[in-house]
Amino acid sequence: MKDVYGRSIDYLRISLTDRCNFRCRYCMPEEGVDMLSHRDILTFEEILAIVSVAVKRGISKVRLTGGEPLVRKGVAGLIRDLKSIDGINSISMTTNGFLLGEMAEELKERGLDRVNISLDTVNREKFLNITRRDGLDKVISGIDAAVKAGLNPVKLNSVIMRGTNDDEILNLVRFAQEKKVILRFIEQMPFGSYSREDFVSAEEIKGIITGEYGSPVKPDGDESALFAGFGPSEHSRFGEDGPVIGFITPVSNHFCGRCNRLRLTADGKLKPCLLSNEEIDLKSALRSGLSERDLESILTYAVDRKPKGHFLDSDIFESTRGMSKIGG
Ligand code: GTP
Ligand code: 5AD
Ligand code: SF4
Repeated sequence: MKDVYGRSIDYLRISLTDRCNFRCRYCMPEEGVDMLSHRDILTFEEILAIVSVAVKRGISKVRLTGGEPLVRKGVAGLIRDLKSIDGINSISMTTNGFLLGEMAEELKERGLDRVNISLDTVNREKFLNITRRDGLDKVISGIDAAVKAGLNPVKLNSVIMRGTNDDEILNLVRFAQEKKVILRFIEQMPFGSYSREDFVSAEEIKGIITGEYGSPVKPDGDESALFAGFGPSEHSRFGEDGPVIGFITPVSNHFCGRCNRLRLTADGKLKPCLLSNEEIDLKSALRSGLSERDLESILTYAVDRKPKGHFLDSDIFESTRGMSKIGG
């Protein structure tokens, strides 16, 4: 599907649940948020029906998100069924990694291609402080299991916050090198307990990595191929033989011009943009028995509603949904 600005939309991010076993500060308050009731959540059959229609409109890649997608029962079966839909050629997942140790192999067997795992520190105390759960060891086991299962390339997503984990940048770089996984730094967006003073830009992070490894250079073709995801990450190699690191810069350098995605929330709303509050109610349409043709029209409408760009400024944008109810 092409949107009105000529962008090609072929990627659907599907949030399977708003529940999560962590409480990351940049995402949720400590006490959690009101959870959706069972009947408000799309069933797997409904998700499969939506994806079957979406492939007709050019969607070929799906990413499963949450909350934490692995807390939804039966996710491996859903992956198997998604895999069997003609036209879907990539299934990925963004997870906090806590349950991956026990699930990675089965997920791979059922057809999951790759995973992105959130990891903001390799220090146990800091991990507890950020996620409010003592889960670092299990997440590291999850990363190992993902690599072993071949969910490659395994990517780590790190959000850096001043005074919380800005002293972990080089430790994360070394950890990713040691585990032979890809590391990406994501600029914090104004969700959860956000304070503008805590914001650390990609430029600042690059400066710290440069101090250790040398200036960023464009990586060679092979290194770039490894990075080729479907998302907004841009990567650089630091120094001659240094690490290749990705940067996602929703705040300092908008990437809206190359946006390729739609989002489906766990309660069946289509979100044309992460950073806009507009939602289109697909679930009600589906449950009222509309035809496939009508559902296709709703998808096209959602694509047409994609804004040209966002104006990410915490004074202006206030999301009506927390990050855990969108899925990043
Ligand atoms: P690949 O590049 O295909 O591996 O995936 P991805 O980077 O699209 O997926 P992932 O879930 O790992 O995304 C990382 C983070 O980038 C998200 O959680 C968001 O914080 C941010 N992000 C992804 N897509 C968008 C987007 O459309 N707009 C904005 N502002 N941020 C996004
Ligand atoms: N800003 C940037 N990234 C965020 N994520 C969650 N909340 C935020 C935020 N406020 C990231 C997590 C995870 C993905 C789902 O979204 O690190 O990798
Ligand atoms: Fe859970 Fe992900 Fe939000 Fe952390 S960022 S609380 S792991 S949904």
